[in-house]
Amino acid sequence: MKVFITGTNGFLGQHLSIYLYKNKYDVSAISRGENKIPNHEIPYFRLELTERESVLALVVAENPDVIIHNAAMSKPDECHHNPERCLLNNVTTTAYLLEAAKLVSARFIFVSTDFVFGEGGPHSELSEPSPLNFYGKSKWMAENLVKASGLNYNIVRPVFIYGPQWEGLRPSFIQWVQQNLQANQIIKVVTDQKRTPTFVGDICEGIDLLLRVKTDETFHFAGSEILSPYEMALIVARVNGLNENLIEPVTAEQFPEIVIRAKHSGLLIENARNILGYQPHTFEQAVKLSFGIKP
Ligand SMILES: NC(=O)c1ccc[n+]([C@@H]2O[C@H](COP(=O)([O-])OP(=O)(O)OC[C@H]3O[C@@H](n4cnc5c(N)ncnc54)[C@H](OP(=O)(O)O)[C@@H]3O)[C@@H](O)[C@H]2O)c1
Repeated sequence: MKVFITGTNGFLGQHLSIYLYKNKYDVSAISRGENKIPNHEIPYFRLELTERESVLALVVAENPDVIIHNAAMSKPDECHHNPERCLLNNVTTTAYLLEAAKLVSARFIFVSTDFVFGEGGPHSELSEPSPLNFYGKSKWMAENLVKASGLNYNIVRPVFIYGPQWEGLRPSFIQWVQQNLQANQIIKVVTDQKRTPTFVGDICEGIDLLLRVKTDETFHFAGSEILSPYEMALIVARVNGLNENLIEPVTAEQFPEIVIRAKHSGLLIENARNILGYQPHTFEQAVKLSFGIKP
């Protein structure tokens, strides 16, 4: 199966490209800058997804069975400051890729986010989106384009992604905690935002399971535990034998952020469990795996 993955220089994109390549998919990796994937056997194409003609030309030339649109302007603060650029990167790119997918009759998998929802989590696939910030709005707009496309499609929504890091890959939350504690730095971490953090390996496995079935469903690929960033940081400290006292609990109010984030977000994963047999790791297991610590 030929899979065209966008955003392969990012955190999820690098992991997903390598995972699917190792699982014998024929991967075309697409991103904007120089290739950052350490495994250079994977065919890589530099593409600015906001350039319609280039998008159509590359998709037609590659002729994939599936397009996984994972690239995004993924930082809520940047989207807030640059709403036009956010729309271009998150919505217009989706429109161009959908147009291209129609030319080659490709299935379309869109990587969305829990930020399409507001308060009242954890949310199921049937919950009504009501984004609280512009990033969430842009991803919701893109989801609607995908649903209206007439293509075979899936929307997948992860939450607060973490996992192993290598050279050329940006750190995730767990590396930020580990690196600061190792350097004896005090960190302030919020106690009153609840999430279902997602191990990147679980999303990769979920997408692999999804590629094996024919269904036009939306799936939540998240962890099964509801945790605050403070609780996550304590687990990172404990499994790495680092000083938990350096982690200072703060409330969201004490730690003002540029964009509004839901206090109780997080996603329910029953659909993925029941239909695909998706089985995420516990947070502690996945943190150990990420740092190469024996279970
Ligand atoms: N991180 C999370 O916790 C989280 C949670 C829920 C959902 N998600 C979703 O999961 C997906 C992946 O997130 P991530 O955190 O792995 O993202 P990321 O690290 O920010 O990487 C996104 C990549 O997309 C590429 N990109 C962006 N705009 C592009 C354009 N116009 N043309 C070509 N490439 C472009 C960038 O490539 P270059 O580096 O080459 O410029 C970047 O490396 C996103 O769709 C995000 O919305 C993420």
